[in-house]
Amino acid sequence: MKALDGDLDRALGRLAGGLYVVTARQDEGGTERSSAMVASWVSQASFDPPGLTVAVAKDRAIEALMQVGDRFVLNILREDNHQQLLRHFLRRFPPGADRFAGVEVLSGLAAGGPVLGDALAYLGCRVAQRLEGSDHWIIYAVVEEGNVADTQASTAVHHRKVGNHY
Ligand SMILES: Cc1cc2nc3c(=O)[nH]c(=O)nc-3n(C[C@H](O)[C@H](O)[C@H](O)COP(=O)(O)O)c2cc1C
Repeated sequence: MKALDGDLDRALGRLAGGLYVVTARQDEGGTERSSAMVASWVSQASFDPPGLTVAVAKDRAIEALMQVGDRFVLNILREDNHQQLLRHFLRRFPPGADRFAGVEVLSGLAAGGPVLGDALAYLGCRVAQRLEGSDHWIIYAVVEEGNVADTQASTAVHHRKVGNHY
């Protein structure tokens, strides 16, 4: 297998993505489970039905809530206010912690999970297929619903220098 040497690492790092927070909430016999994760390895993957992929590391807490048939929400962050949301969701959360404590959340708007009040837009998704990669699951989901809070604002973009981390 090709090693990630300096040139390749820097070249791979020129792949750019947006900045998103994936959220999921499930109710299992009265017990609620919810989670959230900052993501940038997200891409639209089909027109009809509208679909997208998210690459989710195999050890992510939220991965258990993204099995085939599960619903989740992709919160699309704004260029002009994403820093505070990144800071919040990149904190180390102890197991079972409420990852939404202290952030504005619009519950009941999307079926799969909380919509962040400060997001630019949200997409409600249902997992249709999962492709097993070496260290990530490539999760293909059909987009069932969505809306934009501000049609004038831009999506936050994540520019990197190297390809060996996000
Ligand atoms: C800019 C940025 C983008 C990220 N994108 C992804 C991603 O697309 N997929 C992923 O699995 N983790 C990604 N991460 C890492 C997770 O957001 C982070 O480690 C996670 O929220 C921790 O959750 P855990 O407690 O389940 O490990 C990204 C991190 C950063 C800083």
